[in-house]
Amino acid sequence: MYDYLIVGAGLFGSVFAYEARLRGKHCLVIDKRAHIGGNVYTEPIEGINVHKYGAHIFHTNSKAIWDYVNQFVEFNRYTNAPVANYKGELYNLPFNMNTFNKLWGVITPDEAKQKIGEQRAEAGVSEPKNLEEQAISLVGTDIYEKLVKGYTEKQWGRSARDLPAFIIKRLPVRFTYDNNYFNDQYQGIPKGGYNVIVDKMLEGTEVRLQVDFFEQREELVKSAKKIVFTGMIDQYYDYRYGVLEYRSLQFETKVLSQTDNYQGNAVVNYTDRETPYTRVIEHKHFEFGTQAGTVITEEYPAEWKPGLEPYYPINDEKNNKIYKQYKALADQESDVIFGGRLGGYKYYDMHQVIAEALTAVERELGK
Ligand code: FDA
Repeated sequence: MYDYLIVGAGLFGSVFAYEARLRGKHCLVIDKRAHIGGNVYTEPIEGINVHKYGAHIFHTNSKAIWDYVNQFVEFNRYTNAPVANYKGELYNLPFNMNTFNKLWGVITPDEAKQKIGEQRAEAGVSEPKNLEEQAISLVGTDIYEKLVKGYTEKQWGRSARDLPAFIIKRLPVRFTYDNNYFNDQYQGIPKGGYNVIVDKMLEGTEVRLQVDFFEQREELVKSAKKIVFTGMIDQYYDYRYGVLEYRSLQFETKVLSQTDNYQGNAVVNYTDRETPYTRVIEHKHFEFGTQAGTVITEEYPAEWKPGLEPYYPINDEKNNKIYKQYKALADQESDVIFGGRLGGYKYYDMHQVIAEALTAVERELGK
């Protein structure tokens, strides 16, 4: 009899399994995919670690979480500095003095602030009723038109005027010449890829791949005292209160052997409405690769329907209300722990999901 059946070998499940093993517990980890790691999995193609489920850059402000992941692997000095391509014009992201200089020729922060202020005043939005008005009220029309509108409309599959204002609470604007996307103190990519971390976490724990919990539910439940469930919470309860919605993505990966450097940057966002993908990732740049060829992935946003990968929970009023009902059931369970992005119906960055798993382990098994 296992102490824990852990459904899902993503970061939540792997951290839980590792910590439980350290505390002498006997776990079985299952995953319906053919590999461990969940969405942080990287697949080696032509000697390049390809981020199979989208670009993953580790960043955190927590020294404790940084130390935690560094016990498994050393991180490189990668700093995320995406570039936006708007119809062939290139701009630095996040919006900063380099962006403003390119857009308007301004040199000083005061000039940039004045320009944004003028555009906001001209638009005259006092109470934003939709995403378009919200974005213009925050950063003015030029940035909105060239860098926000098309990207956001592709991401959500509808017009910015039909999207609620709350999706954009703030748009980070930085009045320094600093292209570092994140403000966090610690940032990098694990040397050798994320698999190194997850492999070490699951070393010594029994793992069964290509096993879907729902296809063998009865036997699996009987095999363990408790369950840690990181799949979709609505599916666990047989969708009795309805289906929780997501946005999905499709990835098109291409091996390019004619060039060793396709776009000169790991992440390029295509911010016009016409280009069907939102981003192109050139994976080798995450690890300063020097391979002869290169591998790129185009990222296409997609409407989610059952059967597709659920990536981004749509935390609007309707879905949050449904989730609350599932959460109430989950809170009554004494032998099931729900965790991770699907179990909690919440977007988590990697450092957040690791912190959440560590808290769950401590609550369950002590420090
Ligand atoms: P995850 O989804 O990784 O793991 C759950 C596992 O459960 C999966 O392997 C799944 O197959 C398995 N499973 C589900 N149902 C099952 C069933 N019925 N039976 C068996 N197995 C089942 N974060 C960050 O910090 N920096 C970044 O740059 C990015 N970038 C990024 C890009 C994109 C496109 C996305 C979608 C997400 C990010 N993230 C990120 C977030 C990051 O991916 C996330 O924090 C972790 O992967 C979450 O780990 P979980 O364990 O919660 O889920």
